[in-house]
Amino acid sequence: MKVIRLGLNMDHVATLRNARGENDPSLLELVFEAQDGGADLITMHLREDRRHIQDEDLFEVRKHAKLPINLEMAMTDEMLAIALDLKPHSVCLVPERRQELTTEKGLNIGEHFSRLQQFTEKLQGAGIAVFPFVEANTADLKLASIAHCQGVEIHTGHYARIWKNPYLRKQELAKIQRCAQECAELGLELHLGHGLNYFNIYDLLSLPGLEEVNIGHAIIARALKTGLQNAVSEMKAILRQVHDCGDRD
Ligand code: PXP
Repeated sequence: MKVIRLGLNMDHVATLRNARGENDPSLLELVFEAQDGGADLITMHLREDRRHIQDEDLFEVRKHAKLPINLEMAMTDEMLAIALDLKPHSVCLVPERRQELTTEKGLNIGEHFSRLQQFTEKLQGAGIAVFPFVEANTADLKLASIAHCQGVEIHTGHYARIWKNPYLRKQELAKIQRCAQECAELGLELHLGHGLNYFNIYDLLSLPGLEEVNIGHAIIARALKTGLQNAVSEMKAILRQVHDCGDRD
């Protein structure tokens, strides 16, 4: 029986820590709490401007934590060199704009196809699984498959924004559902991320082939009230419910 994996995105912890320039809160202590709460991966986005996660964070987590790392990064030579040195379990390739508050869009694979192919080959050669972050459109999935990526992470930011509107939600769910089916046909592993929370996650649980979700904001925000271990284990409990519905093998 497979359970949907939870990658906890720690970027907000680093943002808070950096606000005072000390090691408070300690990212590593919170990684241990996440571990105790049942997180399956630690996700960190090393941005080119280093606005939250720092290079040392990645290597400290790798050294001291048991959980595998999912590194979010832009397709730059600098990030490639860091990834090859760090050797995380997986890499999620994201587009990056300096002015953005958070990752706004999926990667335009059509525009960056040959770079994606090169990065995938090099990263996979070092034993790192590659997942481009894409919009919910089937054309990008085909290209990710041609580039031999293990899978994709579908950007659920739009779904999260329109979730309160039942009509738009139904439309967006249908789009994501089509993508999930296409992933299954192409043999791509399906991940989802961005804007997911304790309410909007339910409609996605029965997507065929969903293997992993990467969640940051909602869990870190809840942790302020409940502590991180509880916030993570509550989300894990939701991710397990799919089995109670008998929807997955
Ligand atoms: N996945 C990717 C690729 C992201 O860029 C982010 C945001 O850093 C997340 C998942 C997590 O998004 P959120 O913080 O909205 O849960």
